[in-house]
Amino acid sequence: MKRKVLMYLCLVLVINVFTQNKDIIVLNAPDTDRGLTVMSALSLRVSVVEFDTTSISHQDMSDLLWAANGINRPETGKRTASSAMNAQDIDVFIFNETGVYLYNAQSHILELVAKGDNRVIFSGDEAGSNPPIICLLVSDISRFGTGDNLQKSEWAAIDAGIVAQNILLCCTSIGLTGRPRSGMNRKLIKELLGLKESQLPLLNIPVSYKKD
Ligand SMILES: Cc1cc2nc3c(=O)[nH]c(=O)nc-3n(C[C@H](O)[C@H](O)[C@H](O)COP(=O)(O)O)c2cc1C
Repeated sequence: MKRKVLMYLCLVLVINVFTQNKDIIVLNAPDTDRGLTVMSALSLRVSVVEFDTTSISHQDMSDLLWAANGINRPETGKRTASSAMNAQDIDVFIFNETGVYLYNAQSHILELVAKGDNRVIFSGDEAGSNPPIICLLVSDISRFGTGDNLQKSEWAAIDAGIVAQNILLCCTSIGLTGRPRSGMNRKLIKELLGLKESQLPLLNIPVSYKKD
């Protein structure tokens, strides 16, 4: 009997560790010495329509998220992307084959938000290809301390554009490629992610390795 209880406890422990590992992905520190120069990346950036299906490596994912909207000045908590009034309104969600994850810039981790492969939500816009990840940029306009809704939506769109360009230039610099898209089923996305009224999905960016 004692042995059975012990075995059960061990099993629970293993299941817990397994679940925890899946719910949180700890990212690597960004490698700020790699990649093409900004000028080279600018000369090569392009929005592709066909995507490679190879999974994105852990280092590439870590670097991409930090470049997108990570913290580059820990003393102030400010980001690689500027934002109106430093509202830091843009959240980056990653859709991949195992789930949807929210990028937590403070801890530089990915937090599971929805289980399962939900990339299909974005299908219909990428000509039968299956990118390994799709980055979704969502602005939470309640983080703007001032302004009416029109003004807030304008800031939100501009802030999303800045994060998007960080992603696209980082992609080009490190051998990835992507396409910014405003077209998407916002209703389904809001339901899946349980977004608040103030959270606006603005752009999605399928990302893959460059196809030969
Ligand atoms: C704000 C914005 C929204 C876009 N929305 C879509 C979209 O919904 N679907 C799509 O296939 N491409 C979309 N694009 C990609 C553009 O069509 C593409 O950037 C444009 O053709 C210029 O090509 P380039 O990025 O290679 O220079 C969008 C681009 C931007 C900047």
